[in-house]
Amino acid sequence: NVLILDFGSQYTQLIARRVRELNIYCEIHPFNKVPQDLLSYKAVILSGSPFSVRAEDAPHPDLSNIKGKKPLLAVCYGAQYLAHFNGGSVQPSKIREYGRAKLNIIKDAEPLFVNIKEGTQVWMSHSDTIAELPKKGVRLASTVDVANAAYRIDGEETYAIQFHPEVYHTTDGKQLLENFLVHMAKVEQSWTPAAFVDTTVAELKEKIGDDKVVLGLSGGVDSTVASILLHKAIGKNLYCIFVNNGLLRKDEFDSVLDQYKDMGLNVKGVDASARFLEALKDVSDPEAKRKAIGNAFIEVFDDEATSITGVTYLAQGTIYPDVIESVSATGGPSATIKSHHNVGGLPDFMKLKIVEPLRMLFKDEVRRVGAEMGIDKELLGRHPFPGPGLAIRILGDITAEKVRILQEVDAIFINGLRKWDLYDKVWQAGAILLPVNSVGVMGDERTYEKVVALRAVESTDGMTADWVNLPYEFLQETSNHIINRVKGVNRVVYDISSKPPATIEWE
Ligand code: XMP
Repeated sequence: NVLILDFGSQYTQLIARRVRELNIYCEIHPFNKVPQDLLSYKAVILSGSPFSVRAEDAPHPDLSNIKGKKPLLAVCYGAQYLAHFNGGSVQPSKIREYGRAKLNIIKDAEPLFVNIKEGTQVWMSHSDTIAELPKKGVRLASTVDVANAAYRIDGEETYAIQFHPEVYHTTDGKQLLENFLVHMAKVEQSWTPAAFVDTTVAELKEKIGDDKVVLGLSGGVDSTVASILLHKAIGKNLYCIFVNNGLLRKDEFDSVLDQYKDMGLNVKGVDASARFLEALKDVSDPEAKRKAIGNAFIEVFDDEATSITGVTYLAQGTIYPDVIESVSATGGPSATIKSHHNVGGLPDFMKLKIVEPLRMLFKDEVRRVGAEMGIDKELLGRHPFPGPGLAIRILGDITAEKVRILQEVDAIFINGLRKWDLYDKVWQAGAILLPVNSVGVMGDERTYEKVVALRAVESTDGMTADWVNLPYEFLQETSNHIINRVKGVNRVVYDISSKPPATIEWE
């Protein structure tokens, strides 16, 4: 188990990613909340930071229980921090030190640089520089512009590097982390999906005991994997609720509900379509739609959750990027997360204790854990689908008829992608119903009907995306099917915008 102390760098998550890629479990903790019990951590990594160590408000945690006592790797700000407070000196750099550099490794710089070639490319991103090493500091590497690019502290297992081993452009970054963690700190490479399932199920059993847990299923990967983990731990004491907001894909509610039942889950399907449609009546602003749907969901879920007696826990499929985002949304490591000042006004289910078994996992790890537990491949490979569903793909106001039209169009598009073996090559796809009519001709009749747009994007995380170059023959067949089979549509267009500057959804 490895502890990563976060000083607020945009790359901290990447350090965790790289460590996990070595099959080593790690946790990120903010610098101002150093875990009390350090026994379980075999090694510690200090992250970079947007701060200068010389600034008064910069992170200056007490590391006396760590430095010299545990194997320690300090990255960027971490390296400067150790120098600044241990007899060295950190000064503003005279030249900008951003981007790639070639590393000159001092002879005998082993073991940190085993299997790393002289001149290897490293990535720098800092505006201060280590002018003098700390007491007992021994230089290990330099670059043309950075004299102290890596050092160790004599008599301790303390190593510091000015460059970022976690970014892709540091060619041997993963090797360096492996050298430090596996060969020097002797951390076990035992983090596998199977090990995660075993330890998590045991922890959940221990934590929850005979208490009851309620969980909202969405049909997506995260909530499904969370539910199966909990099911393994507590069986029938897990109560799942799957709400149909009427804005799901065609037939999805029934088919996913059946799938959940086949997995042995104790799941209640609640068809609240009418309630959501009512809440959305005459609402056309995208953010107002999201709010109306969010509120309706809370009401429906609360009604259902409170009808189960004796529930103590609310389980959620929160994953690691959500955790990191909500921490940074509240002002980074130094900000305290809002307290429950409004508990009296919250829905009942929000007063429950929270359990989040996937809190420490990245999306691809969630999929691997799901596969390990035998969850259907098709379900695990599903495209992301937004919580507000088709509501944000029907531009303008929403009616039952528009939902029906879009469900039909979307089903033809998605089934076509599957038939043409394109589904898994696309990160996300869907259809959008535009709020305009266009003139067409069918038979000898003039038509004046709806326009739909098709969107298919490739992406890794949804943050940036590009449209997919789908074969013309596929687009041709899909367009024909849609116009011939879906009453009310006489024109199909394909969205060829990237994100940025567009977004994936139109609303
Ligand atoms: P955008 O449109 O911002 O979408 O490029 C990025 C990803 O987020 C999904 N998305 C949402 N998911 N609630 C959700 O649960 C929402 O309000 C929402 N808006 C966008 C979108 O489908 C894409 O995967």
